[in-house]
Amino acid sequence: MNLARPLQALPHDQLGRPLRDLRLSVIDACNFRCGYCMPADRIPDDHGLDSAGRLSFDQIEALVRGFAAVGVHKLRLTGGEPLLRKRLPELVARLARIPGIDDLALTTNGSLLAAQARALREAGLHRITVSLDAIDPAVFRAMSGGRGEIAAVLDGIAAAEAAGFTALKINCVVQRGANEDQVLPLLEHFRGSGHVVRFIEYMDVGTCNGWSSEEVVSSAQLRDRIAARWPLRALQSRYRGEVAERYAFEDGAGELGFVSSVSAPFCGDCHRARVSADGRIYTCLFAGDGHDLKPALEQGEAALAAHVAALWSRREDRYSEIRGNPLAPRKHIEMYLIGG
Ligand code: GTP
Ligand code: 5AD
Ligand code: SF4
Ligand code: SF4
Repeated sequence: MNLARPLQALPHDQLGRPLRDLRLSVIDACNFRCGYCMPADRIPDDHGLDSAGRLSFDQIEALVRGFAAVGVHKLRLTGGEPLLRKRLPELVARLARIPGIDDLALTTNGSLLAAQARALREAGLHRITVSLDAIDPAVFRAMSGGRGEIAAVLDGIAAAEAAGFTALKINCVVQRGANEDQVLPLLEHFRGSGHVVRFIEYMDVGTCNGWSSEEVVSSAQLRDRIAARWPLRALQSRYRGEVAERYAFEDGAGELGFVSSVSAPFCGDCHRARVSADGRIYTCLFAGDGHDLKPALEQGEAALAAHVAALWSRREDRYSEIRGNPLAPRKHIEMYLIGG
């Protein structure tokens, strides 16, 4: 029996969805300024909480133990850029030991990964996802708001491979007129490597990217374009609520995926909670407001677990399904505060 789980029933929300995944931001700062997330003209260079505003490692560990007690088994560390958080491998080592957490992953822009991949592996991190929007150096730089170099990210990926990480996920947000021409070159680069490129529809997250539906390239369009070059075969999803639709290259060169939250919303199976670096829980990527978990956390793991269960039980979010509806919330949390 898993002692991390209480004997009482695990919470389900108003739409019958259990809480399974926690996406935890460890820092709200980023060294990139991707236009779809943190445009440089809107977010100052020195943006970020000071360390006093962030949950400490002790608080994060207690928080994750509390979430594990209400059913979370999958934990993803996010940012901003999580590798900017000092001593991250130390935190990973503490989280990897928590009973009930059987999947511990990290989403990073990869720019600082070369120096940290080995320590993260040794600390017990299971999986890495790298956000990577272009393979061409100039397009890559432009997508990162003039801050990133593709060579550093490729070095980071090589270091992750050398440290023993396999089947990395490479997430590419496709924005019409910006990096659409990078789709085939990215696949050309990663086909056959064992890594899985996933194309993500550009979403109307946050308040500062000036999103317009005209800039969205639908997964169906992309899939047709890719299949004309390399025939594809649809694969079964591996678990209920998997975000990406999976495909295989017919020629055996591996797998790719599409995340279609604009054209084919997947709220019905959404089991994800997000917590910002300052300890607020958001029950949807598009939520306007979070709830501060620090007061409950101060009373210990059990109080935190009870508080989260109560919040989750009231949840009725399904923004992607009601986008455009006058009832859909207009105010949205910024993506870089909850890590996507
Ligand atoms: P795996 O555990 O590796 O399967 O990860 P995942 O695909 O569940 O998570 P990942 O962070 O790689 O998700 C990829 C992208 O999909 C994110 O960066 C978001 O842009 C989008 N995404 C993930 N979860 C959600 C969600 O709950 N709602 C919406 N609308 N988009 C999401
Ligand atoms: N649309 C889609 N995905 C986004 N991300 C950030 N902003 C957006 C957006 N507007 C996701 C990307 C990135 C991750 C950190 O957050 O997947 O890789
Ligand atoms: Fe930073 Fe990721 Fe946002 Fe880009 S998408 S600005 S890398 S947090
Ligand atoms: Fe979950 Fe909200 Fe995304 Fe729907 S829009 S899948 S409820 S996070």
